[in-house]
Order: sequence, then C-alpha cells, then structure tokens
Amino acid sequence: MNITIVGPGAIGSLWAIKLLKAGHNVSLWSRSSETATDLSLDEQTSLSFSNNNIEKLSASDLVIVTVKAWQVKEATTPLLQYLDPDTILMFMHNGMGAVDEIATQIDAHPVVLATTTQAAFKPDRNSASHTGLGQTQLGAFNLQGQQCTFLVDVLEHALPTVNWNPEIKTALWTKLAINCAINPLTGLEQVKNGDLSEPRFSKTLAAIIEELTHVMQAEGISCSFDELETNVNKVIQATAKNNSSMKQDMFYQRKTEIDFITGHLIKTALKHQIEVPTNQKLFAMVKERENSWNHQD
Ligand code: PAF
Repeated sequence: MNITIVGPGAIGSLWAIKLLKAGHNVSLWSRSSETATDLSLDEQTSLSFSNNNIEKLSASDLVIVTVKAWQVKEATTPLLQYLDPDTILMFMHNGMGAVDEIATQIDAHPVVLATTTQAAFKPDRNSASHTGLGQTQLGAFNLQGQQCTFLVDVLEHALPTVNWNPEIKTALWTKLAINCAINPLTGLEQVKNGDLSEPRFSKTLAAIIEELTHVMQAEGISCSFDELETNVNKVIQATAKNNSSMKQDMFYQRKTEIDFITGHLIKTALKHQIEVPTNQKLFAMVKERENSWNHQD
C-alpha cells in the first residue's frame, strides 16, 4: 500500500519503519522542511523516507495521523485538498474528541480510529526506540470506515498484535481512563508511572477512577470501579519504568494533551451533570502549569 504517516513522533516513526519493512511504500509528512528524513529503530540501520512530498501524499491509500490530539485539526485539514475521497484516514493518539472536531471535513473518507499500547520513545529527530510491546485496536469512525477491517491484516503483518474492535468507543474510553489516572499525576509530580503505586497516591487515584466509572457508565460503557482500578494498576506495573507522555511534555514545558484527556472527561461529565471534582482539580493544576510557561508550541 502507499502509506503516509503524518507526524512522525515516537509512535509515528515506529509505524513508519515497521510498515516500510513489511513492504509498503511509506512516506512522511511533518513540520520539518526537509524533503527526505532518515529514521532508525533501536540502533538498526537507518532507512530513508521522503518527507512532505505532495505527489506521494496524493497517491496514498492510507494516511495515518499520529500527531498529538491538539494538533489533529491543524495537521489534517491542509492535507485534505490533496487526497482522493477513497483515501483511508486513520487517527492514532492519546485522548478523545479531536477527530469529532473535524468530522464534517473528513466525512467523505473512510475514517478509522486506532488506540495502541505499543510504547515508543524518540530520543532524537532521526531515531526511535520500541520500548514496550503492546496491542493496537482499530475501529470505524464513520460508515465507510466499517469497510476497512482488512487493515488489521496490513498492520498486524507489520507490528502485531492488531485487532478490529466494533466497540472502539469502549476501547478509547478504557485508554482515556488509564491516561486520566496516570498522566496528570505523573506530569505534575514528575514521577515515573511505577511511582504511582506508592501509598501517597492511592486516595487520589481512587477518586479519579470513581469519577471515571460514573461518567463512563453514563456514556453507556459497561465498566465497574474494580475493573477500571485493576486495569489502571496493571498499566502502572507494566509501564513502571516509563516516563508518561505528560511527564515528558511538562518536563520540556510543551503543551500537553490535557484538553483531550481529563478535559474530555470533564466535558462529558458536564453533559451528564456528573460532578468530577478530583479530575477538575488536576485539570486546573496542569493548565496553571502550562500557562506559567512563556512559550507554547
Ligand atoms: O501517555 C502515556 O504515556 C501512555 O499512554 C501511558 C499508557 C500512560 C503509559 O505511559
């Protein structure tokens, strides 16, 4: 397939390399002005990708957008003029609500949402490391997206495991719950994921999860406090040595994904008139920290 990866950060670079190695024609689209980008994975020989090539973009069968949730709109909309309506758009990022913001602009395309627990890290512009094996779930965002189940085979061949989830909303909420629990706390406290198992965090974590349970149930997601808590604890253990994405963003004083993580939870809670004071407090604290930095990119 002809594939363009928009936003070759850690996860985007991982998929770009894996898909190229699986035999696809992969090109990149990024903010950089270079026309070719070398990428290497885990210190293997580096591979060359064309970057920002309009011809390659127009010929794409699949465009995978891996930018952060808050960049989805500004990164995707300028590209739409070059795409055939048959080109499949796949979005893969932390958080929820970003694709809904551009739903009407992209509705001519088959649209697929993806959530992954593959872990990657990008130490510099030209290299990426695959720091943890995980699972990628795909699901349809619109009617045409329902015809794209074959993408499971395409992606699975490149980087297993990949599943089609007809209830992608449930998978996205489950991941959102994990991010609401782990990201703001690790960001604000500048601790590793595993440190959240210390007793000093248990009361706050329980309150976050309790609020999440109410909102998710109101959204029609079948879940219980115990299930969510077990899930969150599993991820804390499995990623104990990792620096969460929000910890890294806050360390480097970059704009965080809080609006599409805890912010999405708060918006949904408001719709159902559910109180979420703990999440609201964490949201306000992250925002306050962001606002204290002079620059934002
Ligand atoms: O955002 C992140 O860092 C990751 O989604 C997760 C699962 C919290 C692990 O660090």
